[in-house]
Amino acid sequence: MKKKIIIILGIILILVFILFSIQSINRYLAFKKYKDIGYNRKQIELIYQNISIEDRKILLENKHLNCLDKMLLSDSYIKSNFVHYIDYINNNSIEEEKIEDVLLLVNQGIINPYSDSLIKIVKEPYFIKNRLERYLNYLDSNSTKKISKVIQLVNCNLDIENNLRKTDVSKGPLMLVNSLYFLDKGYTTDLVIMEEGYSNYSDSKLNREAYEHFKNLVNDAEILGYHIRNNSSYRSYYQQEELYNQYLRDYGINYTKKYVSKPGYSEHQTGYSLDVGVDKRYASSKFQDTKEFLWMKDNSYKYGFILRYTQEGQEIFGYGYEPWHYRYVGVEAATYIYEHNITFEEYYGYFVEK
Ligand code: DAL
Ligand code: ZN
Repeated sequence: MKKKIIIILGIILILVFILFSIQSINRYLAFKKYKDIGYNRKQIELIYQNISIEDRKILLENKHLNCLDKMLLSDSYIKSNFVHYIDYINNNSIEEEKIEDVLLLVNQGIINPYSDSLIKIVKEPYFIKNRLERYLNYLDSNSTKKISKVIQLVNCNLDIENNLRKTDVSKGPLMLVNSLYFLDKGYTTDLVIMEEGYSNYSDSKLNREAYEHFKNLVNDAEILGYHIRNNSSYRSYYQQEELYNQYLRDYGINYTKKYVSKPGYSEHQTGYSLDVGVDKRYASSKFQDTKEFLWMKDNSYKYGFILRYTQEGQEIFGYGYEPWHYRYVGVEAATYIYEHNITFEEYYGYFVEK
């Protein structure tokens, strides 16, 4: 009986030994495959830790990758994208120092041929992936433009000529109306008549939500010693048409085009815009010379309003600088636009339309 047990134990021991040996041989052979391609022990350990069994087969079919450790150790490395990284590296003859770029591109599903412009575009803060082809095309025909400019213009749809589109009014206070985005003749909004104390004119109307915020702005400003009043708020399509024609007669086409929107293309029709002044005399350009302007410029965002037609943004919105024109977009959007010093068009392109 004892003898039998010893024999069984012996057999088990031999089997364990054989299994162990087979495993060791297998491991040695596997290691050897990677070694033959040129990977060292440390790299092979990384391969085992960071590449799935299936993908390791693909690695073995490829020649030695100089950038492999850098890639596997990067914070941007995603195990399930391994095959796509390899494809991109092979298709674009990528150098070791460009591996972070490859991870950035592939992680976003971008397979366009590698170039310095491509990577600069993708790294721009307001890059929108589904506009990549448009950025590249625009850059092709405008090669002297800075990449940030290309992003800005494309995000505002200014790469497409005469590309008029109907405003998406479902966006409410975030709807975009400018020289490309227009409203129907009949478009109107939830309007309220502005009370005396907020407007220099008795029949001025504003969107209800915008008006609530404007009242708070005027009241707070008044306490601080700033006297701010509305001079022109909601204008219907027909009122805008009248204004446009009047400017055309009085000032000619160039001035009119710079400062007055064509009917349907005026933000005033949204009910979210208004021209402010201290009193009637300080309407329009004179407003810039007042302490009220300095206060509005830096505080109106707290009430959801933005200085809409800034000095710097004229190429984007297509009108002249209007220190008197403010647009209600809500506190969140207004704060972002103020803090990042961008136009509403850029905000809209990136956060609303995207
Ligand atoms: N003054 C602005 C551009 C308008 O007429 O809507
Ligand atoms: Zn205006």
